[in-house]
Amino acid sequence: MIQFKINGQEVEAQPDWTVLDAAKEAGIHIPTLCYHEAVGPSGACRLCVVELVEGSWSKVVISCMYPVKEGITVLTDSDRVKNVRRWVLEMLLAECPASKEIKALAAEYGVTTSRFSIKNPQEQCMLCGLCVRVCQEVVGVSAITTVGRGVHKVIGTPFGKSSEACVACGSCVTVCPTGAMQTRLDKVRGGLEGRQL
Ligand code: SF4
Ligand code: FES
Repeated sequence: MIQFKINGQEVEAQPDWTVLDAAKEAGIHIPTLCYHEAVGPSGACRLCVVELVEGSWSKVVISCMYPVKEGITVLTDSDRVKNVRRWVLEMLLAECPASKEIKALAAEYGVTTSRFSIKNPQEQCMLCGLCVRVCQEVVGVSAITTVGRGVHKVIGTPFGKSSEACVACGSCVTVCPTGAMQTRLDKVRGGLEGRQL
């Protein structure tokens, strides 16, 4: 077992765990958006940042991907961590301003406006890819994917056509942290009439 400290509390972890795994096991809350225990981590949202202290220096890392290490000290709620989270939330507010979930989370950190420019006031999707990973890794059908590049990147189906591969299981809606998938689902799966489920 690996032993280290989170917020001054001694915790134990298996060698292949991440800092987030160890925190969860110890009952210490770290906010996440793009993480789901059913699929591998992607490090897309950066909200799960923590401060890692080793000796006289420290750095900010994403806990859902950072491996545990003997003797380190992790701070989940330091001023530095809160500053990075506020910055991440400002970016998310600009990226998906129509998401009630993101607005509520941002407000918890005192973030109600963003210094970043809003491209689409109706956007709810933060492009975290969680829905795509769940569809692929858990459901095993790859009905949705990322479409387009750069600023034109969206989650959807090739050519925006309803996907024959979709089994309408709703997993993508369930895991979506921003409420975006609910509004996209009908486009993805199309009509259910006559479909063999
Ligand atoms: S639809 Fe939801 S889960 Fe999928 S990429 Fe967008 S925010 Fe993430
Ligand atoms: S939960 Fe770790 S980067 Fe999104």
